This record gives sequence, C-alpha cells and structure tokens, in this order.
Amino acid sequence: MKAAVLHEANQPLVIEDVKVQKPGPREVLIRTSCAGLCHSDLHFMEGLYPHPLPAVLGHESAGIVEEVGSDVTYARKGDHVITCLSVFCGTCEQCTSGRPAICTGTDVRLPPGVSKRLTWDRGGPLHQFLNMSSFAEQMLVHENALVKIREDMPLDRAALIGCGVITGTGAVFNTARVAPGETVVVIGCGGIGMAAINGAAIAGAGRIIAVDTNAQKLALAQELGATDMVNAADGDPVAQVKELTKGQVHHAFEAVGSKRTAEQSFQMLGPAGTATIIGMIPFGTNIELHGFEFLRGEKRIQGSTMGSNRFRTDMPRLIDHYLKGRLHLDQWISARIKLAEINEGFANMKSGKVLRSVIMFDA
Ligand SMILES: NC(=O)c1ccc[n+]([C@@H]2O[C@H](COP(=O)([O-])OP(=O)(O)OC[C@H]3O[C@@H](n4cnc5c(N)ncnc54)[C@H](O)[C@@H]3O)[C@@H](O)[C@H]2O)c1
Ligand SMILES: [Zn+2]
Ligand SMILES: [Zn+2]
Repeated sequence: MKAAVLHEANQPLVIEDVKVQKPGPREVLIRTSCAGLCHSDLHFMEGLYPHPLPAVLGHESAGIVEEVGSDVTYARKGDHVITCLSVFCGTCEQCTSGRPAICTGTDVRLPPGVSKRLTWDRGGPLHQFLNMSSFAEQMLVHENALVKIREDMPLDRAALIGCGVITGTGAVFNTARVAPGETVVVIGCGGIGMAAINGAAIAGAGRIIAVDTNAQKLALAQELGATDMVNAADGDPVAQVKELTKGQVHHAFEAVGSKRTAEQSFQMLGPAGTATIIGMIPFGTNIELHGFEFLRGEKRIQGSTMGSNRFRTDMPRLIDHYLKGRLHLDQWISARIKLAEINEGFANMKSGKVLRSVIMFDA
C-alpha cells in the first residue's frame, strides 16, 4: 500500500510502498477513506517533538473496516469508523474514573518505536505514529482506537472529528465545561480553535472572542459563531481582549502551541477564570506566569488532551450536532487532496491558506 513517510525532520514526506501486518487478536484493519492534516503532524515534521523515524504520520481519519482479529467483538467488516489516538484500556485508574483520554494502560497503547504493525522491503523499522499512522491506504489499530458511526455520515467530515473537532469541542464541553452565558476567548483559529469556537456556540457561551493573526481565519470564525474578532497582529491581544470585556473573561483556550500565546491565555483571564492549554508548546519549553495572579482572583490553568474525550460517546454526538446543522463541518474543509499532494497541504497549513486539508484516498 502507499503511505507518506517522514524519513527525517524538516524534510518533505515521501510516498512509499509499505506493508501492514494481518490483524492480531484485538486488532482491526481499516481501509482509510479520508485523513485530515493536523498541525500536530507538522510539529513532528518540524522536529519540535521527538519521535522515532522513519514513521508514517497522520492521526485524524475515518474509514471502513476490512478485517478484524480473532478476539474483536466491537467491530466487523464493513463498519464505518472514526479512529482516535486516545486508545483506552478500560481498566486503569484513569479509564475507570472517567478519563480514558489519559489512559495509562500499556497493553493497548504501544510506546513510540515499539509497534511492528508496519514493514517495508528496504528492511529496518518503519514506525507507527500515535498507534495509528493515517497517511496510509490502510491502518492497523487496536479495537479500542475506533468508534462505529452511522453510514449516512460523510467520511471526509467524519475524519475531522477524529482529532480537530473532538479536541476543540471537547476542550470546551469536557475539560473546561463552559456554562451558558460565559465569556470565552479562543486564541488561534485553525482547525482546533475553530472547533472550540463552534463548541462554545453550542454550549451557549455568551460572548465568544476569536483571536488570530490571520484576517481570513477571523472572518470564518465569525461565520462559525464568534461574536468578537481580535487580530493579534494589530497590537497586544491581552490589552485588546481586556478592553472588549472589561476584564470579564471566564475561559481562555490556547490553540496555537506557543509559549507566548499560552502566557497570553492566562494573562487575559478575569477573576476565577480558567485558561485551557490545547496547543502543543514545543517540547522542553517552559511557560512563565506571574505567581500573584493565582491569589488575585483564583485564576487557573489546565491542559486538555484530545478534548478530555470519551470518544465512543462524544463522537456520535458530534455527528448528531453536524447532521442537525449545529456543527459547521462543511466550512472546515478548505481542500480535498490526494496523498501525493500532502507536502503542498502542509505548506498551505503553514502559510495559513487553509483551515483543514483532507486526503481523499479513493480520489
Ligand atoms: N491537545 C491536543 O490533544 C491537541 C490535539 C490536536 C492538535 N493540538 C495542537 O493544537 C494546535 C493547533 O492546531 P491546528 O491544527 O488548529 O493548527 P493550525 O495551524 O490549523 O492553526 C493555528 C492557528 O493559530 C494562528 N496563530 C499563529 N500565531 C498566532 C498568534 N501569535 N496569535 C494568535 N493566533 C495565532 C494561525 O494563524 C492559525 O490560524 C497545535 O499546536 C496542535 O499541535 C493539540
Ligand atoms: Zn491532531
Ligand atoms: Zn486505561
């Protein structure tokens, strides 16, 4: 099968012929239909996060089950599924206390470099990325890395739910639990931030302030539910947000992945406000906060992994929101591309030309 391989950081992905193993007892082989390009893949491509290489990247996908292992009970051939990198064991302390997105079970999730699911003729290892590797015509994953979905859901929009949409909406619904009427700020209006904005609108937030440096993204944010737009290129976004809200920000979401924007998300909070960090701040980077702010106003800061999801419950609900017209996934997809166009897709992400590019494997 064809797959996009990262051989070295800061080098283009190369389309290679690779092989995938037969499913083990609890594994499922999926024919990839669609895979979205997420900025997390780009962070690894740029060497900002470590991963054993060569590897097949990609982690936002939907497809159709082709074959299941002998002990698989959840899925069968022909099922339409969304994949999720939040593979859960179901028995560890995090899973059994309602936090499967930070499962610590070791049987279901292999550490980077350990999986032998992908091979190739040239010899030497070919690593699976996040137990998934979606930039390939087929994926071999644990059965607890997928959710079955209704067949009338278009698979390109379903793929987006696999990372961007669950991450942004889940940060709002599950991690921060935004209440109706609250004032929300979202810094970074890419795939993740846009999902947080749309999620905040569904949650009934009173004011939703979108912050970005890209005017096009801000215009789209307004279509998806933002009530106020702040262009960070026009001056200090903290001062602009404070001016707009008179200091009453209940929630700020960081969806860029930088030290500066993470610090800004905390600085713009009002009393009892909470900053939720979604972006992948470069590995090894510390952020600095003014200590007194924790006392003055009891401000909080927290992380959100994959929207603190319970994806088997959350994803079908997101599909329902889409089909009822509340989740505007049609506007998310700026480009439908072929696997061979993947490097151009990432270049367009970097230059801010697109919100999400989706690889259509059958195209
Ligand atoms: N926590 C998780 O589980 C999780 C999951 C998926 C992605 N992420 C991370 O979320 C972040 C966003 O991902 P994405 O796919 O939406 O990226 P993206 O590239 O689509 O969007 C990033 C947005 O940030 C904007 N931006 C850049 N600098 C800015 C600044 N100084 N101020 C305001 N806006 C700025 C860009 O214009 C762009 O619109 C990445 O760091 C990604 O790795 C985290
Ligand atoms: Zn992602
Ligand atoms: Zn677990």
